[in-house]
Amino acid sequence: MSIAFDIRHLGGTHEIELFNRIPYALNDEIADDLELGRRRLEWTWLAIHEGHLLGRLALWSPKGATDATQFDIFDLDDALSDDEQRAVGAALLGAARGEVIAGQATPPEFARYLPADWRDRPAERRATETIMALLEASGARFVVERLRLEWEPTTRIPAVDRRLSFRAFEDEHEVLDLTTRALTGTLDAHSRGELSHRSPREVALTQFDEEFAQYLTPRQWWRVALDSAGGAVGFVFPARNSYHHIIAYVGVLPEYRGNGYIDGILTEGTRVLAEADAPHIRASTDVGNVPMANAFARAGYDTFQRLINMEWPLARP
Ligand SMILES: CC(C)(COP(=O)(O)OP(=O)(O)OC[C@H]1O[C@@H](n2cnc3c(N)ncnc32)[C@H](O)[C@@H]1OP(=O)(O)O)[C@@H](O)C(=O)NCCC(=O)NCCS
Repeated sequence: MSIAFDIRHLGGTHEIELFNRIPYALNDEIADDLELGRRRLEWTWLAIHEGHLLGRLALWSPKGATDATQFDIFDLDDALSDDEQRAVGAALLGAARGEVIAGQATPPEFARYLPADWRDRPAERRATETIMALLEASGARFVVERLRLEWEPTTRIPAVDRRLSFRAFEDEHEVLDLTTRALTGTLDAHSRGELSHRSPREVALTQFDEEFAQYLTPRQWWRVALDSAGGAVGFVFPARNSYHHIIAYVGVLPEYRGNGYIDGILTEGTRVLAEADAPHIRASTDVGNVPMANAFARAGYDTFQRLINMEWPLARP
């Protein structure tokens, strides 16, 4: 490694073009994120050699949060050799950890957004493997690979399931009751990780407070699925986050699983968003959540990207 470079923060929005010289799935969102306070100049790091961008790293949070919650940009120039990529990446990671990440009680989760076929793209694969190795060397561990899914309005909405009817949730107690019960036997890696040290009720409460309660779209969109006897079978949470209309969460209660109910419930969520004129609908699920991934595919949701999550484990008492 002989190339010399400086590590510095983004100087301002006038440098976004320089920052975005490395292609990445989130580049289109960076200007708005900076303007709206979801990104901060002091949460960006650039490796620069004679005015040329060799690598970059950035953190994200919801607007108004104190700490960064996502570490979702970490890119290296493809023209660098393996040794140079490692040196640039290690310097960027060292700066971000030293200045911000190590000082947070909960470190941000690492997220890398990738083309769906990233393993078949040599440059994408090399950079991703280098970055993952650097993170592992710093104590982070792989959490999960996820499918990022998208439904387009030109896609036919599947037929309704005549076994089911739908209504809004009665109140927050019912939201917590059903989402708590649906955690039993979940195949979702983040939920399983949370359940290893907290009760299902605590996990559901956090998901409600930090996610569902934050959506500004109507709560009447959230639907409970009932069977012919009026019993709750499952639920779906259609919503809009800061960027897209989304299926935020969907579940079938454990005693009803294996009957194909997920298809009708997902159809209801898609219908709610389509009727709200969603230009498209986003969703995601773990590669390992096979029943859910298959249900999304049957409902016409295409995998347009993949996502890798890693985390620094917290010391727990
Ligand atoms: C994913 C989920 C919605 C699937 O619902 P479902 O209505 O049971 O789905 P299907 O009826 O299509 O199930 C297909 C197969 O997967 C099996 N299966 C479904 N959920 C399963 C689970 N959690 N664990 C193991 N197997 C499961 C079914 O038994 C069935 O098996 P079979 O083909 O041998 O009969 C449900 O498991 C669930 O609510 N999980 C927890 C919440 C969750 O993961 N939500 C998605 C977050 S993105």
